[in-house]
Amino acid sequence: GAPVKADIGKLEPGQMVIVEWRGKPVYVVRRTEEQLAGLAELDQYLKDPDSAGSDQPAYVDTASRAIRPEYFVMVGLCTHLGCAPKHIPEVGVPDLGGKAWLGGFFCPCHGSRFDLAGRVYQGSPASTNLVVPPYSYEGDSVLVIG
Ligand code: FES
Repeated sequence: GAPVKADIGKLEPGQMVIVEWRGKPVYVVRRTEEQLAGLAELDQYLKDPDSAGSDQPAYVDTASRAIRPEYFVMVGLCTHLGCAPKHIPEVGVPDLGGKAWLGGFFCPCHGSRFDLAGRVYQGSPASTNLVVPPYSYEGDSVLVIG
């Protein structure tokens, strides 16, 4: 299929947009400085912190799982059985039971939890991180998926 373009120039820190690509929802989340700084502290709570066993293009940075750390681009399908994870940006969501929860994605089907780099928390039924699709940028604000 053809690549899909999306202008993300108006996305505010903390916001997410969904772009359809090959019939799949692609989530684009603009992460804050604070959220990015917190990612490294989560490694000990994750199943695959460096994404060695997960699906992402070789050209993304291994820590942020992105080309530009500020923008996280992922396929919005849970790696367990394919439900749509919910983006939960707030720090300290009370009912998810994890002291390491600093925002991220929660799958309502069977309770998998992922951080803001789509990395799966221990104790989740999913065993690999959310998938990062192939993508690139055109200029400052146009994202090209595919
Ligand atoms: Fe997401 Fe099962 S499909 S936890």
